[in-house]
Amino acid sequence: MSIDYNEKIPNNVNLSTDKTLQRALERWQPNYLQWWKEMGPEGSLDFDVYLRTAISADASGWAHFDYVKMPDYRWGIFLTPPEEGRLVNFGEHKGEPAWQEVPGEHRANLRRIVVTQGDTEPASVEQQKHLGLTCPSLYDLRNLFQVNVEEGRHLWAMVYLLQRYFGRDGREEAEALLQRRSGAADHPRILGAFNEPTPDWLSYFMFTYFTDRDGKFQLCALAESGFDPLARTTQFMLTEEAHHMFVGESGIARVIQRTCEAMREHQVEAPDQLRALGVIDFATLQRYLNFHYSVTLDLFGADQSSNAATFFSSGLKGRYDETKIQDDHVLKNDTYKILVLENDALVEKEVPALVSLNERLRDAFVKDSLRGVTRWNKVIERHGLPFRLHLPHKGFNRRIGALNAVRISPDGHVLSEPAWAANVHRWLPTDEDRAFVTSLMGRVIEPGKFANWIAPPANGIKGKPVDFEYVRFQ
Ligand SMILES: [Fe+2]
Ligand SMILES: [Fe+2]
Repeated sequence: MSIDYNEKIPNNVNLSTDKTLQRALERWQPNYLQWWKEMGPEGSLDFDVYLRTAISADASGWAHFDYVKMPDYRWGIFLTPPEEGRLVNFGEHKGEPAWQEVPGEHRANLRRIVVTQGDTEPASVEQQKHLGLTCPSLYDLRNLFQVNVEEGRHLWAMVYLLQRYFGRDGREEAEALLQRRSGAADHPRILGAFNEPTPDWLSYFMFTYFTDRDGKFQLCALAESGFDPLARTTQFMLTEEAHHMFVGESGIARVIQRTCEAMREHQVEAPDQLRALGVIDFATLQRYLNFHYSVTLDLFGADQSSNAATFFSSGLKGRYDETKIQDDHVLKNDTYKILVLENDALVEKEVPALVSLNERLRDAFVKDSLRGVTRWNKVIERHGLPFRLHLPHKGFNRRIGALNAVRISPDGHVLSEPAWAANVHRWLPTDEDRAFVTSLMGRVIEPGKFANWIAPPANGIKGKPVDFEYVRFQ
């Protein structure tokens, strides 16, 4: 499955044999580039960036590394190779051959799934637009740009599905994806977390650790889809997502590392003393973590959802690791435990498995999120310091689902409104926290130099040294 880079739109779907589609995509392409120029990384059009580009879509497909100007990045359409004889593996169509065209009865739902996923991709580029101006190093700047071009490619992936499989309304949706804007009052992006600003690099690392991980779980669920083109498209997107989460996890680990070094070197631990040294204290880190984690939990949707049941039963969106689960994959007679409020206490309640699929995916995300937190705590432990970071309770600071109306502390206690109001400054970033973090953000672009608040990475990119010139400015 090598990718044809001789074409205007690189692809491994034999685009040249489908003239209608090719024309539709070639009409969309200049609008995409226009969007990139307006909403892509600020002031970056002439930079030469050491980027990876996919050369084929099989497991060995990554990657080719070279300097590229981002507007010239070879965005295109890459699907993992088809699997011979693949079936619909769950829901009411279980056992039927996987669909190669959109099943008419599920068309509206499928389009909605593709549009919702597609909308998050340009949204994150918009959210991160200004971060390059305050990068802590060339290495980090390059990673930001790599994530940005790949989110751009994820948009291409969803637009391919819309234009290839949904005709006229697919083309209209493809245009609309370029018109909504993250945070815009009159035409916002579809999902809440994608309208929040990503104003500083601490937020960015938290976003790529948690919110890109939501992306991973959504893509994993879609990679199980009975609609084969969607499954193959999202499968390939997952290889790109892994790097985004790496940027987040290693970024936070480096922030922690630097804070630990300052604590040991100066024998101080009070937040204001650490702030005076220009590093980020653990309490602030924990508040940023609490915020990004809880906002991301909401992305999974309501804990009981008839849409989630429909998407599953109709074979469109599976569970995480669907084909590895040992059960009937129909779930008509199964139950699942969700959290509800009863007499002012949180209790587990068994509800039909089909309506609680959002919650199940959220629970898988929680488990996965924990692993990085454990590795972060190892960094602190290695420095002999007693502090530990924690994931807050699943019900903390929620806006969507049954827990939306309940105030819950990070350790899982149900609170009165006054108790919440009296403590929230300890749990979520305050204006003062944000102002402090903002005050640290300066632009460091000398090769091998790093901002004071973050440690250098252990390794550079693709065997290059840490002080390699990852971005060249014109
Ligand atoms: Fe993405
Ligand atoms: Fe991503």
